[in-house]
Amino acid sequence: MELIKVNSAVQPYTALIEFNRPQELNALNRQLMRELRDALLALDADEAVRVIVLTGNQKAFAAGADIKEMAGKSAIEMYQIDQFATWDQMKKIKKPIIAAVSGFALGGGCEVAMLCDLIVASETAVFGQPEIKIGVIPGAGGTQRLTKALGKAKAMEMVLTGKFISAAEAEKYGLINRVVPVELYLTEALKLASTIAALSPVAVKLAKEAVLRSFETHLEEGLHLERKNFYLAFASEDQKEGMAAFIEKRTPEFKGK
Ligand code: CAA
Repeated sequence: MELIKVNSAVQPYTALIEFNRPQELNALNRQLMRELRDALLALDADEAVRVIVLTGNQKAFAAGADIKEMAGKSAIEMYQIDQFATWDQMKKIKKPIIAAVSGFALGGGCEVAMLCDLIVASETAVFGQPEIKIGVIPGAGGTQRLTKALGKAKAMEMVLTGKFISAAEAEKYGLINRVVPVELYLTEALKLASTIAALSPVAVKLAKEAVLRSFETHLEEGLHLERKNFYLAFASEDQKEGMAAFIEKRTPEFKGK
């Protein structure tokens, strides 16, 4: 059974991945996460794709890792399965991923959204790390990425109490990019995708890598990578085209080369 749906050409240069476990509020079981990993790796290698949009449905982006699948496991089984190894692969995707979130983005659902590069939410979206209420803690980055986005006070409260925040609060705290009416969240995410897809795919990947590095390193090393990626952009035809188009006062045509 396919637990995700993939449309590799939903609009020019844009792929759409939809979680497809509506009865379980898109709970992220291991099969679904394997399918997601495989789809992302394939789309990252597909020259016709420049941006990936990841979404659920109106009621749920994803309500977390699959509790029923994990409930009876021992620590050693969890360790042997390495539950989150597939999730970690999301970090390797070089193309931008935009999460289009409506409804629940909880636990692993919130963590997957935070593994994306941009988040567009419907006004009905709720974000939370409620693992504490079922006797565990976030396991796929929640304690770290939420804290980096929200700061200690708000993240600590969410992680220690399991309380949800609304899309409006998530926007105010800087967790997400924007909130739109529910009927528009996917349209808005696709619009953002098309803006990015019109730019140099080489420069976009170099820029994504540099921004993400800022979370993992100290300033000097981050600046060093930024400088190298800036120089590396000059190896691309897109840089020549982009600068020539500016000087000639015309729209550039980027080829990803
Ligand atoms: N795992 C497995 N099944 C889930 C699920 C999950 N995370 N979330 C929802 N479901 C299932 C429910 O069990 C239910 O199935 P049945 O119809 O077979 O009973 C179905 O989806 C619909 O859910 P509800 O009836 O509960 O829907 P609701 O609208 O009343 O409540 C909700 C919605 C508040 C999101 C509630 O479902 C809920 O609290 N879900 C769990 C949220 C959670 O704790 N997530 C964290 C999981 S652990 C984790 O993610 C670890 C990590 O760091 C990766």
